[in-house]
Amino acid sequence: MLNWNTLPKPILALSPMADMTDSPFCQTVKTIASPILFREMVSSEAVVRGSEKTMAMAGFAQVERPIVQQLFGADPDTMAEAARLIEETSAPDGIDINMGCPVYKITSNFNGAALMKDPALASKIIRKMKAAIRVPLSVKIRAGWSDPSECLDFVRVVEDAGADLVTIHGRTKCQSYSGKSDWEMIGLAAERVSIPVLANGDIFTPEDVVRALKATACDGILIARGGLGNPWIFSRSEMMLKTGVVPPEPALEERLRVMLEHARRHVAFYGPKGIVTFRKHVSWYVKGIPGVKAVRHELHTIDSLDALEIQVQKLKRLHAM
Ligand SMILES: Cc1cc2nc3c(=O)[nH]c(=O)nc-3n(C[C@H](O)[C@H](O)[C@H](O)COP(=O)(O)O)c2cc1C
Repeated sequence: MLNWNTLPKPILALSPMADMTDSPFCQTVKTIASPILFREMVSSEAVVRGSEKTMAMAGFAQVERPIVQQLFGADPDTMAEAARLIEETSAPDGIDINMGCPVYKITSNFNGAALMKDPALASKIIRKMKAAIRVPLSVKIRAGWSDPSECLDFVRVVEDAGADLVTIHGRTKCQSYSGKSDWEMIGLAAERVSIPVLANGDIFTPEDVVRALKATACDGILIARGGLGNPWIFSRSEMMLKTGVVPPEPALEERLRVMLEHARRHVAFYGPKGIVTFRKHVSWYVKGIPGVKAVRHELHTIDSLDALEIQVQKLKRLHAM
């Protein structure tokens, strides 16, 4: 069973991202490296309603383990029942609570980051969920709602309520994605609790991983955008932590090979029309490739796996591969 306390440190993990950290992407990451995977958030209400679409989103292949399923919601009983159902049906290695999402659709229902404004309710949700499941329960928060020092008290609330781990994205809800993740504040918050803490925000390279670990003295890190189209960030960071040397970036051929492999998994999972939702992953995989401009429009409008393969061949010819 997953135990956040005894896992080898530092912990490297993929941060949950709606519409991105699905099973095809998580499987792809696991062919390259072995981070802990946090699955995109699902609605506790939809789980309790028995929504087939939501339950499918929470499914995973065994190779993805250890995997943590994130839930969002604001009603303690619904959150506890959803956690119990998820544990019973898809059996992930951990459950995570979203207390950091800044999107209006979520916070207006008092979900996500809005829970940081109501510590009593947040605490009740954690207690009820903890009592309903056997796997570890973690909580993902922001530095605060409007003031980045709010996390200093809030991490204590999270620990006292019985959470096994907390992740802190060092921006406030009000900042959304502007400014910088406040690693210093994350470090100060981590000093206040004895449960493991993961630092999150603005980690895009293996060097950033090392810097964030040093700046926060946390037990590990969570990478979101830096992992998109870039599962190598985990293998390269692991290597850098072991040897102190920054490994080279993957060769273009390897990037394109893994993108195609991911695309095939995506289409096998979502059906042929799924290629349309793969376009967003393509943008990340080809980011920064010299000459990509020449095929950017075609890549943004691909409507089949064949069309993607044709563009990949074009890119390879461009680079004389
Ligand atoms: C497209 C996208 C979707 C996200 N969805 C979620 C989510 O479902 N749950 C969550 O807790 N955070 C979500 N986040 C926030 C990230 O997990 C992470 O906290 C944030 O992007 C900062 O980390 P980064 O600088 O490594 O990207 C999302 C972020 C992005 C970019």
